[in-house]
Amino acid sequence: FGHFTYDPGFTSTASCRSDITFIDGDEGVLLYRGYPIEQLAEKSSFLEVSYLLLNGELPDKNELADFTRSITVHTMVNESLKNFFDGFHYNAHPMAMLTAVVSSLSAFYHESIDINDPDSRTLCAHRIIAKMPTIAAAAFKHLVGEPFVYPLNRLSYSGNLLNMLFSRPSEEYEISPIAEKALDQLLILHADHEQNASTSTVRLAGSTGTNPFAAIASGCAALWGPAHGGANEAVLRMLEEIGDASRVEKYIAKAKDKDDPFRLMGFGHRVYKNYDPRATIIRKTCHEVLDDLGMANDPKLELAMKLEDIALKDDYFVERKLYPNVDFYSGLIYKALGIPTQFFTVLFALGRTPGWIAQWTEMVEDKEQRIGRPRQVYTGAARRDYVPLDKR
Ligand code: CMC
Repeated sequence: FGHFTYDPGFTSTASCRSDITFIDGDEGVLLYRGYPIEQLAEKSSFLEVSYLLLNGELPDKNELADFTRSITVHTMVNESLKNFFDGFHYNAHPMAMLTAVVSSLSAFYHESIDINDPDSRTLCAHRIIAKMPTIAAAAFKHLVGEPFVYPLNRLSYSGNLLNMLFSRPSEEYEISPIAEKALDQLLILHADHEQNASTSTVRLAGSTGTNPFAAIASGCAALWGPAHGGANEAVLRMLEEIGDASRVEKYIAKAKDKDDPFRLMGFGHRVYKNYDPRATIIRKTCHEVLDDLGMANDPKLELAMKLEDIALKDDYFVERKLYPNVDFYSGLIYKALGIPTQFFTVLFALGRTPGWIAQWTEMVEDKEQRIGRPRQVYTGAARRDYVPLDKR
């Protein structure tokens, strides 16, 4: 094809150089800035990981305190932004609301954005990380028909998110430390994953010089699909549809049937041809959280385990190296924390936000980066002359 190659799905094209995240899909390795995901998930916090992704190094005490202060300073959104939600139908999908309202942030900050100025870039990055939970929680409250809850800056990032989601003016809300820790860990596990579809979308949109709020909104839109971040919602819907462990075999057969569009959601990955290391961590956390919440015998957990067990022994899945991915167990944890299924992908978006911004920043700073402009292989009609309407 002339001087370019045909590569649908970009399976063999590196679109950039990056220092941020390393994946070895055959060995099941994931490193953020060189640090293994297992260590970060166990020992770090989401804000610390956000700092790491943005700045390349773990913060010292003062740096972390400054970063945390800056994020908490920006948690409020302009009061008029709340009006957006009045325009949405009562059962609007929260990803539709998130995508639209994040995009609208450009309208509030357009004057102060200068993507060529590092200080302005940092301000945008902190604003986005700080305001995403506030917007997400407002979408949640719209969905459940409750009054919006303002951010409380004395709480941790995840504690504040839980408080905005679940507290009501009518009663005291006590944040469960189990929920706070589990949510923080889930956000860490989703924080970056190199050039996945939504991150590539952020980079492609950003390569035109558009503002970072618009680029992140494009990332949200790309994340929504069931082949990507929407898979966590799709897994829960699948488990609900299967309903009973006795029907697992039937659904495994459906997933293997090439004439049936059904796929086992939460299974398979473009890069991992081994157990997704995030899934290993989430699987363990899922058992711990459900145990702690007295839900160890949750029928959906049993169903998921049976599904996993059968699929991992089945030739179809073995030959194609299809293993559970990050989305297979995350929904079960969200559900146990009282989060509605429709909202799962929003939490993925919150987690992925620091990764998107770190990747956007790296792209803007990269001197080799040009506008993203793939080519195509044209397969349409050859040149032909226009035929007037009365002659067709
Ligand atoms: N169930 C049944 N068959 C599958 C599945 C599945 N979940 N995933 C892949 N396959 C089969 C596929 O039919 C193909 O078979 P064959 O070689 O006979 O044609 C083979 O495995 C390779 O699949 P592919 O579609 O060429 O692989 P891909 O790299 O283009 O797609 C994927 C990767 C994640 C989109 C795909 O595995 C999938 O649709 N999984 C279900 C959705 C899902 O869980 N997505 C979340 C991904 S992880 C989180 C994230 O990145 O957002």
